[in-house]
Amino acid sequence: MTSLTLNGQAQRCTADPNTPLLWVLRDELGLTGTKFGCGMAQCGACTVHLNGNAVRSCVMPLASAAGAELNTIEGLAKDPVGRAVMDAWVETDVAQCGYCQSGQVMSAVALLKSNKKPSDAQIDAAMAGNLCRCGAYMRIRAAIHAAAA
Ligand code: FES
Repeated sequence: MTSLTLNGQAQRCTADPNTPLLWVLRDELGLTGTKFGCGMAQCGACTVHLNGNAVRSCVMPLASAAGAELNTIEGLAKDPVGRAVMDAWVETDVAQCGYCQSGQVMSAVALLKSNKKPSDAQIDAAMAGNLCRCGAYMRIRAAIHAAAA
């Protein structure tokens, strides 16, 4: 049994501690907002926050989250920065197919929590690990600026 705090609530997980967090979230806990893309820490679709840091849940074993604060896209609306980013995402009409978007939003929130007014270059650097096959990068950048305003 692994105990952690998930989106502000105490959570106990029964999966093997070596199970990637992505599959614990999706299969054991039914939180399917976190997406599987590559499974190799290359695309960012599975991004969640572990103790406030954006991490790739596809390569992070459940054991890494023991006793930690884990936040997913499902809990983001309770967070003022998360709310601002999600509102900006909608207002900027960022999503095309939408598959990568929860990972993009999680990375954007982590960025804005560490840097309230990032430059274009800082946004590009922070978001470089989140791929978008629709090429929504300019709208992603615009939404981050809007959320920071
Ligand atoms: Fe985790 Fe691609 S699914 S980085």
